[in-house]
Amino acid sequence: MNVSVSTAETLRAALGELLDGLPPRQAAQAVERLIANYRGATPTDAPILRDRADVAAYAAYRMPATFEAVRSALEAFADAAADWTPGSHVDVGGGTGAATWAVGATWAGTRPVTVLDWSEPALALGREVAAANPALRDVRWQRARIGSSLELESTDLVTVSYVLNELAASDRAALVDAAAAAARAVVIVEPGTPDGYARIIEARGRLVAAGFRIAAPCPHSAACPIVPGTDWCHFSARVSRSSLHRQVKGGSLPYEDEKFSYVAAARFPVSPAPSRVVRRPQIRKGQVLLDLCGAEELLERTTVTKKHGDLYKAARNADWGDAWPPEGS
Ligand SMILES: C[S@@+](CC[C@H](N)C(=O)[O-])C[C@H]1O[C@@H](n2cnc3c(N)ncnc32)[C@H](O)[C@@H]1O
Repeated sequence: MNVSVSTAETLRAALGELLDGLPPRQAAQAVERLIANYRGATPTDAPILRDRADVAAYAAYRMPATFEAVRSALEAFADAAADWTPGSHVDVGGGTGAATWAVGATWAGTRPVTVLDWSEPALALGREVAAANPALRDVRWQRARIGSSLELESTDLVTVSYVLNELAASDRAALVDAAAAAARAVVIVEPGTPDGYARIIEARGRLVAAGFRIAAPCPHSAACPIVPGTDWCHFSARVSRSSLHRQVKGGSLPYEDEKFSYVAAARFPVSPAPSRVVRRPQIRKGQVLLDLCGAEELLERTTVTKKHGDLYKAARNADWGDAWPPEGS
């Protein structure tokens, strides 16, 4: 079993235990309350995750999805920085620690890790869940408020996952600048919505201005070729659904697809993909249509047919978010 599959299973089991003893109806109600809170006005002046019930609901309902989205972004980053392993990690707005699990699933071994968040119940539950993962035994779970006075310790990697969404514009800018000042690599993940993408593009601009190079998903560090308002760059990660999901959302599908936008950038040389598949490939009879974002700073559709031999086989296996062409072809 590869490390990321086994990490995902360990996380699922640990999250399952959180709900042990909680009547299913009560767990579903906590999730519904949380969804309603998130629909309200954000940013807020105080944490949305206020008590253990909120946090257990968040973790059981959302953490498998944010874990898979971050893991997917980190995998693309690791492909572009093949010789690099983070020696230390700070997860800002880390909540219950999904990104710490994702870093552990991407790079074997242990490293000093600090999770910063303003919600004490989220940090406490994150620590509890992390007890199931030996690689996360020594994580520091530390209370911190993101704002203009935030200073981050110097570290190899900063992750910011599903947090920009909850901040005022000035705090978003302060956080990205603080991450750029502290880290050698920064990975930011947001929901895969037009607004999430807009926040990623803004952060990307700040990272490039601070001297970072984009490692993924973009094949270059120049301006994004998407005309604002016409489209948004996002990807999809498959997440196994828990019984809690089925209860809250109904339906019987064993999985759902988490849509996310991201940027991964580094201060050191990286090898971004030559181009990236930016939509689900369309497989037709004898041909595959691939929508690509390329190093020439252009979006284009390419058609790969049987005539292309091995490349056609590769195109049939290509997935949304993959680098193209695959290495060695
Ligand atoms: C949607 S959760 C994401 C948690 C985690 N990063 C993940 O991917 O699952 C947003 C987190 O940001 C934290 N947060 C929001 N605003 C914050 C602030 N001003 N200071 C510190 N933490 C904040 C929340 O407490 C919450 O844990």
